[in-house]
Amino acid sequence: MTTGAPLALLTNESSVGVIGAGAMGSGIAQLAASYGHNVALADITSTALQRARGAIEKNLKGQVEKGRIEEAQARSILGRITFTEEINTCAICPIVIEAVIEDLALKQELFKRLDEVASADTILATNTSSLSVASIASACKKKQSRVLGLHFFNPPMVLPLVEIIPSLSTDPRVVDTTKALVTGWGKTAVVARDLPGFIVNRIARPFYGEALRIFEEGMADRATIDWAMREIGGFKMGPFELMDFIGNDINYKVSESVFEAFYYDPRYRPSITQKRLVESGRLGRKTLQGHYCYKPDAPGPAPKQDETLGKEIFMRILAMLINEAVDAVFMQVASPADIDLAMVKGVNYPKGLLKWADEIGLKKILNKLESLQEEYGEDRYRASALMKRMTKKPQKFFS
Ligand SMILES: NC(=O)c1ccc[n+]([C@@H]2O[C@H](COP(=O)([O-])OP(=O)(O)OC[C@H]3O[C@@H](n4cnc5c(N)ncnc54)[C@H](O)[C@@H]3O)[C@@H](O)[C@H]2O)c1
Repeated sequence: MTTGAPLALLTNESSVGVIGAGAMGSGIAQLAASYGHNVALADITSTALQRARGAIEKNLKGQVEKGRIEEAQARSILGRITFTEEINTCAICPIVIEAVIEDLALKQELFKRLDEVASADTILATNTSSLSVASIASACKKKQSRVLGLHFFNPPMVLPLVEIIPSLSTDPRVVDTTKALVTGWGKTAVVARDLPGFIVNRIARPFYGEALRIFEEGMADRATIDWAMREIGGFKMGPFELMDFIGNDINYKVSESVFEAFYYDPRYRPSITQKRLVESGRLGRKTLQGHYCYKPDAPGPAPKQDETLGKEIFMRILAMLINEAVDAVFMQVASPADIDLAMVKGVNYPKGLLKWADEIGLKKILNKLESLQEEYGEDRYRASALMKRMTKKPQKFFS
């Protein structure tokens, strides 16, 4: 690992390069420009750049209408962003954040080029949500130690969490400098190990997966599962509403990639029900049909408001979520405090899962998982070794 003089802090005077002007890149560009940075936003197509400019203008207009910023401020934020088809314009910035489509070969090609043309001190960050940072960094033959993952959540202007993911080769000073930068943008930064799904996309899998499983085996319909998680669990949205909101194609792809990356561990097995929705083009809100129908005359979901069934559903999904959070501590993905912070700030959970575990008692969660494993005979329900260890003493995550 590199040591030596600290890297220069990135200030508001530092320009920021963003590559990929889609949903994430345009949001990150607007965020950086809102904090005074000059931003070079690059994309391969002029259509994407026009769309990004339109989206940023619309968002700024909305902020002016809500009285959050003055019209002059909105104009200067937009004025600080240069929309360009020339990638090399980004390479002169002291930090470049890549947000092109989720394709390893494409990202590697881009990082190879950036590594060749950027100055030796330029930090190269990737917003990948499911690829390994190490595999992207490996394309940089000149200087791998400047590469790290910088995972914003959608929409980047609104969601406060950023996961910072050093690869095995990342210089710790690059982590510190980048952390200071995004903290200055009002973000909560957590550091995660370069493991599949990082923190949030790994731990959140059972929120969707177990809900789908409960539905598939006929224990309850979608509306009832959503109702249970909202009304009994306190989640802002139920799993099916959320999958439709995210897009079943995107949500399925993340599940599939986490499953593959964990060498097909049954705990992460994706759902055929969701696969069929994707194959049928029922992607969610964006196609007006997903788990639910969003056409104007569609009847609203009608949950069966059965308290006993609702509690059973909630406890089963929560036990699976807590198991993932505990196992993430066990596998040193991040600290318990950062894991809880990530789930609250990144996906709006009503409470940190480890704090929840402390309150309910790990023994109760372990009993739930063991009874599920016994009933189903599936490894999917196996409890983390750390949970078993901690219940012997018994121990808590937080005092
Ligand atoms: N959408 C999300 O919810 C979300 C959340 C977190 C992270 N991410 C990650 O962020 C990245 C971008 O996702 P998105 O949803 O913004 O995608 P998107 O499809 O909305 O945008 C991707 C953009 O990249 C551009 N592009 C493709 N190849 C390029 C190249 N060689 N050079 C420059 N631009 C190129 C495309 O024209 C497009 O405008 C992905 O890695 C994704 O996994 C997405």
